[in-house]
Amino acid sequence: MGKATRGEPQLVILLGPPGGGKGTQAKLLAEELGLVHLSTGDILRDEVRRGTPAGIQARVYMEAGELVPDELLGRIVRERLEALGPGQGCILDGYPRSLPQARYLEGIRGGTPLTVLNIEVPEEVLVQRLAGRRSCPVCGKVYNVHFSPPRVAERCDDCGSELQRRKDDQDEVIRERLRVYRETTRPVVDFYRGLPGYHEVDGSGDAAQVFEAVKRAVGILAS
Ligand code: AP5
Repeated sequence: MGKATRGEPQLVILLGPPGGGKGTQAKLLAEELGLVHLSTGDILRDEVRRGTPAGIQARVYMEAGELVPDELLGRIVRERLEALGPGQGCILDGYPRSLPQARYLEGIRGGTPLTVLNIEVPEEVLVQRLAGRRSCPVCGKVYNVHFSPPRVAERCDDCGSELQRRKDDQDEVIRERLRVYRETTRPVVDFYRGLPGYHEVDGSGDAAQVFEAVKRAVGILAS
C-alpha cells in the first residue's frame, strides 16, 4: 500500500456507510488526483435505467436495500478495471462491501498499490443525509435539502430539471441498508484495518471539512 499521489497508478477504496459521503468525496478526490471514479451504485443504477440483463437482476435487490449478488458485482468491477488505460488509477466507491468481494478484489488487483479510506459518520446523521438527498436525473448533480439545497426548491441549479429522490432513500429502505451495512460491510473494514494504506476519516463535518481530512489521509496535505 502507498500514498495516493497524482501520477502513479493506484487503487483508492472508499469505505463507509450509506450516506457517509463516499460519492461526494470520491468526485472531489478523483478530480484532485486525476483518477477514474468507479461508483458501483451509479453503474448499477445506469444498468437499471437501461433495462439491461444486469439491471433487471439488480433492481429488486437495490429497491429493497439489499446487496446485489457478489458474482454480478465481481464481473462489473473486473471489466471496468480491465478497461482502464495503462497507468490509469481509479477510486472504487461502493466496492468491496462483503468479505467475498474484498477477497475477489485482492485476487484481481495484481500489484497495484492500495489506499483505503474508511469514512465514519454517526448513524443519526446518515439518516438525515439520506432522507434529504435529491439528485438531478439529467446531469447527475447531487443536492441535499438540509445541507446543500438547490437555489430553487427541487430544481437543478445547472440544468433546471426537476430533482428526484432515490427509491432506496425511503425511510424503511434506509433502515435496511444500514442493517446490511452493519452486518455484511462492516467486516470489510476489519479486513483492511491495520494495513499500511488504511486510514480512518471523520466524515461528520461538512463536505469541505471532510475533504480536508481525506487529503490529509492520502498525504496531499501535511497533517
Ligand atoms: P450506492 O449508491 O453505493 O449507495 P450507498 O453505499 O448506500 O451509498 P450512498 O450513495 O447512499 O451514499 P454515499 O456514501 O455515496 O453518500 P453521498 O456522497 O451520496 O449503492 C446503492 C445500492 O446498489 C446498494 O444498496 C446495493 O443494492 C447496490 N450495490 C452497490 N454496490 C454494491 C456492491 N459492491 N455489492 C452489492 N451491491 C451493491 O451523500 C449522501 C447525501 O449526503 C447527499 O445528499 C450529499 O449531498 C450529502 N452529503 C455528503 N457529504 C456530506 C457532508 N459531509 N455533510 C453534509 N451532507 C453531506
